[in-house]
Amino acid sequence: MVKGEKNQLVVLLLDMFMAGAETTSSTLSFAVLYMLHYPDVQKHAQSELDITVGKGNQPVMQHLSRLSYIEAIIMEVQRICNIAPITAAHRAKSDTKVSGYIIPKDTTVLASIYSVHMDNEHWGDPENFRPERFINNEGKIIQDEWFIPFSLGKRRCLGETLARGSWFLFFSTILHNFIISSPPAEPLPSLEQIDGATLCPLPFYAVFTPRF
Ligand code: HEM
Repeated sequence: MVKGEKNQLVVLLLDMFMAGAETTSSTLSFAVLYMLHYPDVQKHAQSELDITVGKGNQPVMQHLSRLSYIEAIIMEVQRICNIAPITAAHRAKSDTKVSGYIIPKDTTVLASIYSVHMDNEHWGDPENFRPERFINNEGKIIQDEWFIPFSLGKRRCLGETLARGSWFLFFSTILHNFIISSPPAEPLPSLEQIDGATLCPLPFYAVFTPRF
């Protein structure tokens, strides 16, 4: 491999780590935080795990299609927490008209994922944490086109499959093996988000008690 190509490969791998590490870990931290605030949601997820995975086993990717409630929790965490509230900067390649607005060629465009996820008219109660909004009457996941945590189009997140697989395994394994609660006599930690390139929770403590 020549030097230029090696540098390019190193920078490309750096892109993957920068784009993939904090987004994935913040999603998991938020998921743990919301489990402290919503113990009934946690219990419901654990009964789904007990039925589908069973006590002596660990969750694997093949369980995903049968763990709809776990998937809905992660989707709702992504919707309400908006870890990546705006997309990367893009450029209009030609004069474009969107909803009556003229976007001239070469304009820098950033789309607000936050506005889509918190749209009152579409979601009805966007401020409420309610994983059930992603589950239909048959207990299957609803694919809502307003749910766009990885953005849309050609430049949407290329790490989506990896991210979805890794949280599913981490989150379901944690919930299967532990009850998550606040330290005794501690108030519930804040749901406030720290603003940066991505959003993350304030530092908080949680107690993990083995379930088995
Ligand atoms: C919770 C996890 C993740 C979320 C919410 C997320 C979200 C996003 C969003 C919103 C974009 C911007 C798309 C746009 O500009 O329209 C993006 C881009 C990108 N993501 Fe992710 N991402 C996550 C995980 C990952 C992982 C695990 C990787 C890599 C292993 C990754 C790699 C990238 C890269 C390379 C881009 C730039 C794509 C491009 O410009 O063509 N992401 N991501």
